Amino acid sequence: MLFSPRLKPNQNCLISGHNLLVMQKLLEEGLASEFQLIYFDGPFNSGRIFSAPHPELGVDLVNPCYERETITQFNNPSIYIEEYRKRILAAKELLREEGFIVLQCNAKMGHYLKVLLDEIMGSQNYLAEVIWKVSNERTPHSFHFGYNHEVLLFYSKTEQYLKKNIATLSSLWDDVGFYETLDDENTFYPSQKPEKLMERILELTTMQGDLVGDFYCGSGSFPFTAARMRRKWIACDQNNNAIQITKNRLDKAGYKYQDCILINRFKPEWFDGTTYINKTPIPVSLLELEGLKKSTGISSPITVEAMNFSADCDLANEHGIFHFHLLVPLINSDGIDSKEWTTIPRPVPFQSDGGYRLVVPDPFKWVLYNIVHVQIDEKWREYHFSWSNLKNRVNGLLEKINNRWIEEVFYYKEHVELKDIFGYRYHLKRQKEVG
Ligand SMILES: C[S@@+](CC[C@H](N)C(=O)[O-])C[C@H]1O[C@@H](n2cnc3c(N)ncnc32)[C@H](O)[C@@H]1O
Repeated sequence: MLFSPRLKPNQNCLISGHNLLVMQKLLEEGLASEFQLIYFDGPFNSGRIFSAPHPELGVDLVNPCYERETITQFNNPSIYIEEYRKRILAAKELLREEGFIVLQCNAKMGHYLKVLLDEIMGSQNYLAEVIWKVSNERTPHSFHFGYNHEVLLFYSKTEQYLKKNIATLSSLWDDVGFYETLDDENTFYPSQKPEKLMERILELTTMQGDLVGDFYCGSGSFPFTAARMRRKWIACDQNNNAIQITKNRLDKAGYKYQDCILINRFKPEWFDGTTYINKTPIPVSLLELEGLKKSTGISSPITVEAMNFSADCDLANEHGIFHFHLLVPLINSDGIDSKEWTTIPRPVPFQSDGGYRLVVPDPFKWVLYNIVHVQIDEKWREYHFSWSNLKNRVNGLLEKINNRWIEEVFYYKEHVELKDIFGYRYHLKRQKEVG
C-alpha cells in the first residue's frame, strides 16, 4: 500500500481512498501523535446510500461496492459499530496528547457511538454532547418524530481543555445554519455540513498551524474551512464524486494541496497465471501492473479483475496485454449482500482519426453498474429491489446516452484524460504530433 504521489511533509493533502487503510498508512508514514483534531462525519447508518445526482441523466450514480456496504451495515448495525471502533482506535493513535476527536452522528446510532468513545477515549475525557439544530422543518427522512437535530460528541485524548473558554457557549447550537440554508456553499452533495459549523469546531479545538484530519470528507466542508482558517489538513473519501467536488471547491478558492490516491503494490499471491484478482477497496494502478509485468515477464493477455481502477492503469494497456474487468458484488432480490460477485468489462479508451472514443463492451451492464439498485421504504425501513424497474431505467438511460460516453477530454503534456458520463477517468498516452 502506498500513496501516489508520495506524501510530502507539511503539505495539505486530499486522498482518494478507503479511510481505515488511509489512516493506517498515515501511521506507517510517521504521523502518529501529530493531529490536533480529527473530525468524524461518517454515514449515520440511516440506510441512505451516498450517491451523486447526475444533472443531465436525472439519475443517482453510485458505486455498487459502497452500496452493498451501506445495505449490509443497515441490516446489521453491530458491523457499523465495529467498523467505527477500528477508525476511532486509529484516530487515537494519530492524535497528539492535547488533541481532540469530534464525532458527528444522529439520534439513531449516537448512544452506541458515545459508549464506544467512552470505552476507547476514556469517559474522563468526554467533554460535551452538542446538539446542532439542523433544520426548522421536520426532516424528510424522519418518521414518527420530526428529527431536526444532530449530535456532536467531543472527546479529548488526555485531560485537556478546549482552546476557547466555553463557559459562555451553550451545548445547544441553533445559530450555525441549517441544511436548507447552505445557499452559495451548496454543492448538492448529500449530508454536506455548513462551513460555519466546521468553523466553530475548529475554533474550539485548534490553533493556526495545527494539523487536522477529516477521513469522511464528502463535499470537503471541513478541509475547505480548515484551509481558510490556516490549519494544515489531511482529508480523504472513497467516493470519486466526493473527491471531485472537494477539489472543485478548493481549486476555485485557490487553496493549495497535494492530490493523492492510495494504491497497492503488486501482490504475487493474487496472480493465478492468467488472472490478477484484487478484491481490496484500493484501486488497481499502473504501478501495481508494472510490478506484475516485471515479476512475471508476461507477454500473453492477462485479465485484471478489481473493484476499482485508477485512471493511469490504461497506460499499461499500450501493448494490449491486459483486459480490465470490474468485480462487482451482487445484490440479490432482497437487496441483501449475497456474497456473490460478477464481472463487468471496463470501457476501453481509444484514439482514432484525431479524436477519442470510449468503447463500452457491455453498455447495459455499464449503466447498471453505475446506478442505484435499491430503493428504501421510509416507513418500514426496508430496501426494495425490482429487476423490471431497473431494466426500464437502464434502457431509458441507454436511449438518452445514445453512444455518447465521453463527457470531457483533458489534454496533458504526456497523456490525454477522458472523463465518461459517470465521472470515471481514463488515461491515454499522447501520440507524437506528425510533421
Ligand atoms: C456524511 S458524509 C460526509 C459529509 C461531509 N462532512 C460534508 O460536509 O460534505 C460521509 C462520507 O463518508 C464517505 N465514506 C463512507 N465510508 C467511507 C470509507 N470507508 N472511506 C472513506 N470515505 C468513506 C462517503 O463517501 C461520504 O462522502
